[in-house]
Amino acid sequence: MSGGVGEAVRGEFPILARATYLNACSQGALSHRVRAAYEEYLAGWDEHGAEWEHWVERAEAARSGFARLLHAQADEVAVTTSVSQGVSGIVSALPFERGGRNRIVISEYEFPTVGQIAHAQELRGAEVVHVRPEVDGSISAERFAEAIDERTALVCCTTISYRTGHRHDVAAIAGAAHAHGALVLADSYQAAGAIELDVQTLGADFVTGGTVKYLLGSAGLGFLWVRGSLLPQLLPTQTGWFADEDIFRMDISDYSPHATARRFDAGTPPVPNIYAGVAGLGLVEETGVPAIEAHVRALNTRLIEGLGEMGASVVTPVDPARRGPLVCVRSTDAPALVASLAEERIICSLRDQNLRVATHFYNTIGDVDTLLEALGRRRHLLA
Ligand SMILES: Cc1ncc(COP(=O)(O)O)c(C=O)c1O
Repeated sequence: MSGGVGEAVRGEFPILARATYLNACSQGALSHRVRAAYEEYLAGWDEHGAEWEHWVERAEAARSGFARLLHAQADEVAVTTSVSQGVSGIVSALPFERGGRNRIVISEYEFPTVGQIAHAQELRGAEVVHVRPEVDGSISAERFAEAIDERTALVCCTTISYRTGHRHDVAAIAGAAHAHGALVLADSYQAAGAIELDVQTLGADFVTGGTVKYLLGSAGLGFLWVRGSLLPQLLPTQTGWFADEDIFRMDISDYSPHATARRFDAGTPPVPNIYAGVAGLGLVEETGVPAIEAHVRALNTRLIEGLGEMGASVVTPVDPARRGPLVCVRSTDAPALVASLAEERIICSLRDQNLRVATHFYNTIGDVDTLLEALGRRRHLLA
């Protein structure tokens, strides 16, 4: 396989021969390429034992791949095991002094790990402010602006809601935050690999995500982009030896973090997941995120139209600029709906009372029509 969308790439993903796979918001489909990457890791280990130099080189390949994905410099990217590691690293570098700049503003759409890490900082003097959605489910930049002031240290505005598919106006939210001297974190897990993420224009100071979903890798690998100009002032106290200025010195006499975003790396890199992640990133890059975004947008427009014709209650905005690869539709019994679709080998997922449908570049209009037809026969399970 080298590039393309829809039929051109389907052969790379064996599950598509057996199922209508619309679940990239949970996990992207396994490819031959990613399976081969795991096998390559095992074969090298078996053949040579510890291939440390090669493994460190692979970690740098992942860093460069993430940097290309984000239109960033590799020195501004930390290779992490999860979003949780990246976010914990950032907050560990912020002082949260009571009576000082100690507030963390979070949207109601943050993933649990972001919300829970924010609230954990209450033990260190932080206060957490929640920004709630409007009745139509959107959270406007104005709502964020109302919650931000000179007490705000950090604003967390996930790029795309994992619960509803809403896309935040990160640039406008960042404008409001920066006007008050606050920093901005955009958890972009539900966007990375499916929509263009350009850190030069996104507006956030920190962008994080991982490889499980649209980047087609597996669990245990993530990235954290940190605005380069902020690095000198950010000293993470959550750290590890791979964050040191010189890991080979094995020095335990002080804390001397790396000058670059490597200061947000931590322990031994997740080598097997890096093999998979680099392979998944390669597949995404061969097609290119702009082409993936255009394809996914067209599929989702068709899906939303079909749902509208059925009179279903679509939670995700119709406007393509306000959504990404995830479309959510209200169900009267989401667990029953997901289970019933799975009986026909249509794989979706759920959050709250919503059916979640996530398309990727390997999906086709045929997949969307298969789902719409199956939903038509289960109309009573849609609100
Ligand atoms: C928006 C978002 N953030 C974070 C995560 C996962 O975080 P972590 O990498 O810490 O497991 C997910 C999904 O698993 C997600 O959808």
